Amino acid sequence: MLYPLLRPLLFSLDAERAHDLTLGMLASHPRLVPEQTLVPDPVRVMGIDFPNRVGLAAGLDKNGAAIDGLARLGFGFIEVGTITPRPQPGNPRPRMFRLPAASAIINRMGFNNLGLDALIENVKRSRWVSEGGILGINIGKNADTPIERATDDYLTCLRGAHPYARYIAVNISSPNTRNLRQLQGADELNRLLGALDAERQRLDAASARTVPLALKIAPDLDEAQIEAIADAAVRHRIDALIATNTTLSRTGVENLPHGGEAGGLSGAPVFERSTAVLRSLALKLEGKVALIGVGGITGGRHAKAKIDAGAGLIQLYSGLIYRGPALVSEAARALARC
Ligand code: FNR
Repeated sequence: MLYPLLRPLLFSLDAERAHDLTLGMLASHPRLVPEQTLVPDPVRVMGIDFPNRVGLAAGLDKNGAAIDGLARLGFGFIEVGTITPRPQPGNPRPRMFRLPAASAIINRMGFNNLGLDALIENVKRSRWVSEGGILGINIGKNADTPIERATDDYLTCLRGAHPYARYIAVNISSPNTRNLRQLQGADELNRLLGALDAERQRLDAASARTVPLALKIAPDLDEAQIEAIADAAVRHRIDALIATNTTLSRTGVENLPHGGEAGGLSGAPVFERSTAVLRSLALKLEGKVALIGVGGITGGRHAKAKIDAGAGLIQLYSGLIYRGPALVSEAARALARC
């Protein structure tokens, strides 16, 4: 109810400043956030029982600073990160741009984050997590780690996050860390996933907990690349694929203010492409790996389209900026009906 009033004020500020203000408020005064009833729609995915299918996508709360405030918006699960082993500042500002005419965002944040240890401290402090809220931790590599050593960074994050995450999402699809998307190539991916699967099995056995691994991929992939990723996911027992991250394409925004900014495009313009990648994965995988649909959901019918394309869960980011928290319950209600 409040968001239509707040939005013009937030949109009058620089996009990252508005983001920081909102997140700061959610972090420091979670109880001031009007609580939205969680729409019940229980579902089991990756062996986890989710209260509903609508999650928060990675990148909005990179450091897990506002988990309890965000949880009040009615999400069935929350993914924090991307986190890297060491803190890093990310790219110079400005690095986040609204394109309201297209309900879109372009960002080139570059994994700005406070590092793994700070994230874990925040997670430990979260009441929602201690009460059983389903938290995913999204992991990445530091910008100054050579790409040949990327596996070391992912393993460091996996070890640190394993005791605190209900699932871990491996992000190899941000366009804003140099060469990161190379890790989606068949050879690199098999090496990375082989190492992560072995370490995950060791950690699961040592802790008597099962922490599923999800892999987050880009929308900018052709059919052969999608096939190779699907094969690698099955071979290395990946529990879920998250489709998709932001796109390098500028189709639909070429002529808009900020349409030419470098970075990843998200929101309405990525919906068709990310849903096509999801559908293609579903057809190739025939249920062998769970799917999480994200990209361009700005209304209940988009959420339903992701489920129809084969997703077991969905996630939101840009749609929240344009529609506000009401989008969470709208999406959850649309899915509970189907
Ligand atoms: C993102 N996204 C993202 N994804 C990820 O895995 N790690 C990250 O750190 C970030 N950071 C990030 C910052 C900003 C400003 C945006 C807009 C997005 C991608 C996000 O999780 C999602 O995959 C895409 O934005 C597509 O979904 P929407 O935004 O169209 O709903």
